Amino acid sequence: MRNIFKSKKKENENFELDMDNIPNHIAIIMDGNGRWAKEKKMPRSMGHKAGMETIRVVLKEATRLGVKNLTLYAFSTENWSRPKDEVGTIMKLLVTYLNKELKECHENGVKMNLLGDITKLPEDCQKALNNAIETTKNNTKINLNFALNYGGRDEIIRAIKLISEDVKNNKISEDDIDEILVQNYLYTKGIPDPDLIIRPSGEQRLSNFLLWQCAYSEFWYSHINWPEFKEKDLRRAIADYQNRDRRFGKVK
Ligand code: FPP
Repeated sequence: MRNIFKSKKKENENFELDMDNIPNHIAIIMDGNGRWAKEKKMPRSMGHKAGMETIRVVLKEATRLGVKNLTLYAFSTENWSRPKDEVGTIMKLLVTYLNKELKECHENGVKMNLLGDITKLPEDCQKALNNAIETTKNNTKINLNFALNYGGRDEIIRAIKLISEDVKNNKISEDDIDEILVQNYLYTKGIPDPDLIIRPSGEQRLSNFLLWQCAYSEFWYSHINWPEFKEKDLRRAIADYQNRDRRFGKVK
């Protein structure tokens, strides 16, 4: 198979990127697979399949540009209410993706992580995911975080329960509870907050994604559906991000 990480270096076409100001963490809501398929008079499953191919393209480009964390919203806690066969397709694609890409990702320094409760996923998915995490655990080039069976509210409720338990068991006291402590009870423990959140397909909402972590994230929306999202779109988003004035609530 073609090595996606070693192909010819591209110019940063059309967009002058400041390579000293590449977002450390980009999070993406991979939306528009269904609409893309509908436009092409194809079943929704084909949209998800095409969406899976986009992950290759975007991961490679993010790695090339020096992004250190890439988080992809692949399946939300609400997505279970989709038709059974669509849920099944997404789960199968996840295993396909890991089988196809793990070796190359590992060779190129990708460390895979999970956000969400995967114990509800089919057993073959859990196995493939745990294997991917174990295989890539010492890699340092880029963290690829899959949000799977993930919901921001669910994550916060889980953290509250874990914190309460630790207070009850005298592991921590109520006075210890601050932002840093809460962060350590989230799925994203150890991962910096996203600098840039991208949502393709024209929707302009968060859909329960990284609710705690996005407090000061920059948002970027585009009308392109995820299966058509290309390297240049990622660069366009980063170029736009580089023109933002991030004040974090302060005055310059
Ligand atoms: C949103 O588009 C997309 C999803 C709910 C699933 C994303 C899954 C993939 C990209 C494929 C495989 C995943 C992995 C991790 C390899 P939508 O279905 O809501 O599109 P629509 O809004 O146009 O209907």
